[in-house]
Amino acid sequence: MSFRTTAMSTDYVEDVSPGRGALPPRAWYASSDAGSLSLNGSWRFRLSPTADGADDSFAEPGYDAGDWAEVTVPGHWVLQGDGAFGAPIYTNVRYPFPVDPPRVPTQNPTGDHLHVFDLPSDWPGLSDGGAVLRFDGVESCARVWLNGTDIGEFKGSRLAHEFAVGDLLKAGGNVLAVRVHQWSAGSYLEDQDQWWLPGIFRDVTLLHRPAASVLDFFVHSSYDHTTGEGTLRVESDVEGRVTVPELDIDVRTGDPVTVAVEPWTAETPRLYDGVLVTAGERVPLRIGFRTVELADGLIKVNGKAILFKGVNRHEWHPERGRALDLETMRADVLLMKRHNVNAVRTSHYPPHPAFLDLCDEYGLWVIDECDLETHGFTEQNWRDNPVDDDRWTPALLDRASRMVERDKNHPSVVIWSLGNEAGTGRGLTAMAKWIHSRDTSRLVHYEGDWDCRDTDMYSRMYADHAETERIGQGLDGGTHKRRQLPFILCEYGHAMGNGPGGIADYQRIFEAHDRVQGGFIWEWIDHGIKDERFGYAYGGDFGEELHDGNFVCDGLVFPDRTPSPGLVEYKKVIEPVRIEGDGRDGTVRVTNAYDFADLSALTFVWSYDVDGTAVETGTLAVPATLAPGASADVKLPQPPVDARGGAESLWTVRALLAEESAWGPEGHQVAWGQFPASARPTPTVAASAAPVLADGVITLGPGTFDARTGALRSIGGREVRDLRLDVWRAPTDNDDGAAWQPDERYGMLWRNLGLHRMQHRLDAVESGEDSLTVRTRVAPAAAEVGLNTVYRWTSDGDRLKLTVSVDPEGHWTLPLPRLGVRLGLPAADRVTWFGGGPGEGYPDTKSASMLGRWESTVNDLQTPYLRPQENGARADVRWAEIGGLRVDGDPEFWFTARRWTSEQLDAADHLTDLTPGDTVWVNLDHGQQGIGSQSCGPGTLPQYLLRVQPAEFSVALSAVDN
Ligand code: GAL
Repeated sequence: MSFRTTAMSTDYVEDVSPGRGALPPRAWYASSDAGSLSLNGSWRFRLSPTADGADDSFAEPGYDAGDWAEVTVPGHWVLQGDGAFGAPIYTNVRYPFPVDPPRVPTQNPTGDHLHVFDLPSDWPGLSDGGAVLRFDGVESCARVWLNGTDIGEFKGSRLAHEFAVGDLLKAGGNVLAVRVHQWSAGSYLEDQDQWWLPGIFRDVTLLHRPAASVLDFFVHSSYDHTTGEGTLRVESDVEGRVTVPELDIDVRTGDPVTVAVEPWTAETPRLYDGVLVTAGERVPLRIGFRTVELADGLIKVNGKAILFKGVNRHEWHPERGRALDLETMRADVLLMKRHNVNAVRTSHYPPHPAFLDLCDEYGLWVIDECDLETHGFTEQNWRDNPVDDDRWTPALLDRASRMVERDKNHPSVVIWSLGNEAGTGRGLTAMAKWIHSRDTSRLVHYEGDWDCRDTDMYSRMYADHAETERIGQGLDGGTHKRRQLPFILCEYGHAMGNGPGGIADYQRIFEAHDRVQGGFIWEWIDHGIKDERFGYAYGGDFGEELHDGNFVCDGLVFPDRTPSPGLVEYKKVIEPVRIEGDGRDGTVRVTNAYDFADLSALTFVWSYDVDGTAVETGTLAVPATLAPGASADVKLPQPPVDARGGAESLWTVRALLAEESAWGPEGHQVAWGQFPASARPTPTVAASAAPVLADGVITLGPGTFDARTGALRSIGGREVRDLRLDVWRAPTDNDDGAAWQPDERYGMLWRNLGLHRMQHRLDAVESGEDSLTVRTRVAPAAAEVGLNTVYRWTSDGDRLKLTVSVDPEGHWTLPLPRLGVRLGLPAADRVTWFGGGPGEGYPDTKSASMLGRWESTVNDLQTPYLRPQENGARADVRWAEIGGLRVDGDPEFWFTARRWTSEQLDAADHLTDLTPGDTVWVNLDHGQQGIGSQSCGPGTLPQYLLRVQPAEFSVALSAVDN
């Protein structure tokens, strides 16, 4: 006798089809008058370890879930319940389950969600028309029952699904039961580089659908730049009228109307309020007139080629994961606008629809990307890739249509993206074909298609500078079709940890070649999860079997949305006004780098700075009407008479918002430039004092030294410890580089060579007539290379001058992380300096480093990269004061101060591993290696490598009160 025991069918979980029961996709909108009821809030919750671990009796009315836990919807259950509901998993490329499509593991965390609701007393839906239940996002597969009736199931985590439920509703005690499976066939299509986070993570809403209400509608609103007219035509499934009072438009749906309008662009996001009225409903419209086309091999909007200064944005909140509230979305948009970002790729799925409303309103170009990535199949050479398997094509088309139909009425969306890192295949071609036929008013993007078979632009990620330049020159070859197409870098400038470096060098290439229409930094935000143990957790912190560590922390803003230095750098690199000049000839060249706007929103101010302090300021008359692309040479005033002769002077010119705008306050700085007026006099210290030996101590001016070792002990009575040559820095993520990178991965190479454990051999301590000379050789164990290092001390009685000469020996094949001296101060807090600031800068990340007199504290000098690494250097420092010590550089130096050593920084995995010691360690560097972008991109460009060569640098040290 044989028998089967299958409690219930969960076949749909592993079914490649998109689902059953949902309504066709349509535009997402908020009605003016039809009722809606948010079902967000506290829901009853029960977690089962397998898809069939619990029966479905919970969906029956009357079921008593009184002893269940509760979760907040929208939310992810793994981020709730203090660990009782499992934990997040982070993988980049690899699936965290065996690759056997469409099968998923038996261990399939399944969350039963239950919500009982009453209809509001004025809900008309029971007698009038129907109702629709809308889910805006559920990861990864849901089955839904309302009042005991099975209404269907769906996949496609970041897409909306609606169900007609009018017949099932009652006035009170409606039971909505949703079973959510973490893993499903759909998971194979959602292998984006991010946390796997199951749950009902976007809104659940009940929408009243009165008789003759709007079903779906498509707003076509183009702009003809030759006539200045816009044409509006609103197609609607249900007939009605469209009115736009401001434009005197009142037409039937389906009828085109052409009138003079102001166009919509990301720089000038002009929206017109309209209404679509059918017999049963009024729907507000926000109409932006604009035309997107591929013309002359370029992406053009309203007849002009545009330059993307973009970012890739994942949805992220450090406590709520991908469940974002409106204020968080607005915070993203405002931060982007305030940092000169003009474009967003919604990597790698359609965002919450409210985000697109904000992009329409504040003005951002959007590449809306479909919820599709099958990257894990690359591990098997793309064998069995769902995008090249007809069985999956309906699911792919479902995803494409759910994106396009939902988002088609947003003027900000200019490009549809098929998805990310899914290889190539017939399924993608089918998606592109469908999108092209459904919406002829936008272009199609997909990075994985290097032949551009299905796309309207050539797109790549992380192409290095040289290749980008070749592409710009049209020398990259490729298919005939590709050669006719514009190019974008849909990802570049990997913002993991310290960096990205080299983005100014990219921007120069973008601006030099029409074909290269800009790029999108990877990525907007670090996906750190707030965690008591670590501050912020990253991959591996939840004991995942497979994980990719802190690769999930690669954003321009920290998890709490504080801008990182990378964002400040990007803001400078992409500023929409270029201010250049040579202060000595008295003119400034101002270039309008907008694509559409003139400069009337800006006001220009100058300051004349002497030794970092403004001594006179004024406004600069820059023509407000300066056209995009045009430059004007503007005369600076006569330099003020410099009372303090012999000082360093420079001009600083700033472009500020003349008035408060939708996204920034009056006076917000948009762009700036600095140029020297008179050069810096180098500090001189006459060697007039003589070293004096007494009781094992050598005294030279204000300095005392150990007579045996020549080590500096104090300056002006202030203790100084362990001053010596330092070449080590805690490798950055970009120094370490990713395993697959072709360029040299210096973090590892430096460590192999032993640069983190240099030994200092003392060869001689020589007292001369007016100097003390200490000869050493600095070298790692087990290697023949070394740095002969001579410290020469002199003094004028008040100040000590140290000149360090470094003479390399042996065959050095690697550049150095840094070259300078490190010293310890027993107590220090306040720091003031004249040099680059206010934030950190490295050779290829210091465009935003502004020369001035800055003040901070040792703690605030630190940049809190989630995985600790080299950070916080201030560039081009003339002088600094810290802990009673003043340092004047000859030449300028890189200044760093921290309460731990580089070795301790290097050993830490999380910020919580760093505990302040009783010494402040100060690095005065003559050189720093650039940063590059090798954590997922090209390494440091040759011009920013710190090559080993003979070097000499000096600092004048003195005691001060600070
Ligand atoms: C890209 C990918 C992104 C992200 C990035 C590295 O290949 O599209 O999702 O993984 O690399 O952080």
